[in-house]
Formats: sequence, structure tokens, C-alpha cells
Amino acid sequence: MSGRRRTHEREQEFAVAMMDRLEMPADDKILKLSIMFNGDDRPGKIDLGIGVYRNARGETPIFAAVRQAEEKLFAQETTKTYVTPAGDPGFCAAIQSLVFGDDAPDERIRTVQTPGGAGALNILAELANLASPGVTVHVPIPTWINHHAVITEARLGLREYRYLDPRTGQVDFDGMMDQLGNAEPGDIVLLQGCCHNPTGADLGLEQWQAVAALLEARGLLPFVDLAYQGFGDGLEEDAASVRLLAGRLPEMIVAYSCSKNFGIYRERTGAAFVLAPTPALADRAAAQLARLARITYSMPPDHGASLVRIILNDPALRQIWKDELEAMRTGVTALRRELASAFHQITNRSGHEFLTDQKGMFSLIGISADQAVRLREEFAIYIVEDGRINIAGLRGDQVMPFAKAICAV
Ligand SMILES: Cc1ncc(COP(=O)(O)O)c(C=O)c1O
Repeated sequence: MSGRRRTHEREQEFAVAMMDRLEMPADDKILKLSIMFNGDDRPGKIDLGIGVYRNARGETPIFAAVRQAEEKLFAQETTKTYVTPAGDPGFCAAIQSLVFGDDAPDERIRTVQTPGGAGALNILAELANLASPGVTVHVPIPTWINHHAVITEARLGLREYRYLDPRTGQVDFDGMMDQLGNAEPGDIVLLQGCCHNPTGADLGLEQWQAVAALLEARGLLPFVDLAYQGFGDGLEEDAASVRLLAGRLPEMIVAYSCSKNFGIYRERTGAAFVLAPTPALADRAAAQLARLARITYSMPPDHGASLVRIILNDPALRQIWKDELEAMRTGVTALRRELASAFHQITNRSGHEFLTDQKGMFSLIGISADQAVRLREEFAIYIVEDGRINIAGLRGDQVMPFAKAICAV
């Protein structure tokens, strides 16, 4: 028997043991779109798929504050030894204060640094399963596609609640309250703190108050995902939801991402926050989170978290960062206005105000999967099949051609 054939047979043998029992997972629609976009050589192609900020030149720049923090870090760093599973205490303190503000019940809040917002979502879902195996998590329709996967992989139950009213592009608040009113005590409610992905439709402050009252009355635990602080109405304003819930409720878990608001996507920087009824219970929850981190990835990556710590603790750098973030926020808001106005000009009809009412980078523009394919094939415009567009992916000169293409399909 030739050596080659023997190897082939051994492969077969191993395959039976495990590998051939694996199914090919479905493609991640957003990542697949990115790959297709990169392989498209048509000039003028437009990528509104992946959720990253782009400036007027279509670039995702490194913040000047991040560059300066990197120089400082390079000069100061003396070791690359391990951090701890809970991460860098300096980062944790700074990010907790950025999110929860000065009036927070700090004695009941604990922070664990994580690899991005996704890392936080995962260890928090595991924590929920540890405390209440299989507990039901109520998620908005629609929500970021990864939420479903995170919840089901953690062996939690999943139920959906009405969120977007497609006729108005606003939150179907009555529908949402109605359905959450039927949730069982002890259930978890997933909420996006601001700049809802994929709809851009956020709750107003009074609505957050009403949600907090409902959660309190029914004994439900909020699981807040805050991935776009600073992209909606401003840094403080975008944290109002979390602060309001923290001021009122005994318990809450929050997944936080620094990917977008510090522009450090690939550095994998985020945080998991727990709010517990007492400081002792907060300590216990944080110790469990650190244990889950230790099992999963042992320690979070340090580079991005060090940059965030340096920026937030240096008044001058912090100001530079805030100004840069504010310029991005106002840039996206201006694009929203321009897009609404372009639709208005083309159709000569109102009804596009939802684009300016919505917050953050995303909006659902109500087109079908087939129309999304036509946009890609006929116009080299890449948008997710569910009709989500990343408005920050548009350059000013692309607004009108984009609006015309949408009207054409
Ligand atoms: C709603 C939401 N949550 C969490 C994340 C995860 O962010 P990260 O890249 O920090 O893991 C994203 C990223 O797109 C998001 O849109």
C-alpha cells in the first residue's frame, strides 16, 4: 500500500471519530458581504454592510487620541506579563465611571474587562445560566443577529418581543410593553442601551422610565447591550438608559463595547458590568465572571484596554477623544438628514423623517432580500439582506446615487 493511500485511510478513521459529525455553519451574512465587497472591482461600489464608522473619505481612521495613547503606552510599558482574568483595574474603574456616571451606586457595581462587547455578552450569558439554568431571555424583534446565537449557545431560553413598528420606523412601545408584561418573574430582558442595531429606533427617557417600572414590578432582570455610547445623542445622553436602570433596580447586567467609540475594533476591548442587590453579592457575581473568563480565554487582551485607560485618565487626551467622537456623531446625524432629504427630493413625498429621528449608524430601510441582491448586482451597493444599512458607510457624494438606486429597486 502506498504511503499516500495509508494517510488517506487514517484520515477517514479520524473523521469518523469527530470531524465528520460537524455540520457546516450557516455563513455570517454580514461578514460574507464584506468578503464579496472586497472582491468587487467596480468603481464607486458602496459598502453599507459591516457596522464600522467611516469618515468622508470612506476610511475607518485611527483616532488621534488613540495614536497619542499608543505613544504613551509604548514609552511607559515595562512588561507584557499576564494581567488577571478580570483585566486591568485602571481600565475597569475608568470605563465604569464613563458608563455609570458620578451618581452611580458604585458599591453594588463590579466591572470585568472583556474581549470586546461580544466577549462581555458571552460571559454574562454564561453567568445567567449559572444562576438560573435555561432562564428565558426576551429579545427585541429585530436585534443584532449575534444576540440569538449568544443566548442559545449559552443554553438559555429565547423569546422575542415586539420592538420595531415597520410602518413608522419607531419603537412599537405599546406592543413591547404588552409582551414584556407577560414575562415570568426572574426572566431576563435584553435591551440595547442606545443606537439600536439594526433599527436605529431607540426608547425615549420617559419610555425607559416605564420599562424600568415594568421590570421592577414584574421582577425581570435587564441585560443591557451598550455598544455605541457617544454615537446617538452624546456620551452622557447615551448612558442615560443604563444610569436610570441602575438607579432604580436591584440587579442588572451590562455588556459594553469600546470597539466603535474608541475605534479600536480589532483590539477587542469591552467590559461586563454587574449590578447586584448588595456589595457582597456583587463581589460574588464578579468572581464568577472572572472564573468564566479564566475558563474561556483566561485573560482579556490588554492593548486596547490600556489605551482606553490612558485616554480616560488624561484630561487633555480625554478631550481630544471626546471631540473626535462628537465629530463622528454629528457627521452621522448630518448624513441621516441628507439621506432623508434625498429621498424626499426623489419621491416628492414625506415619510422619511424616521431616518432623522433614529439614532446611531443603523437603519432598516424596508427592502426585501431580493431587492438587496439587485442593489448588489446592478448598483454595486452592499447592504444586509434584512435591509439594514450602515449610514456611516456612505460618503456625502454617494447619498444621492444611493437614494436613487433604492428607489429604482
Ligand atoms: C449591538 C452590538 N452589541 C455588541 C457588539 C459587539 O461589539 P464588539 O466588536 O466589541 O465585540 C456589536 C458589534 O457590532 C453590536 O452591534
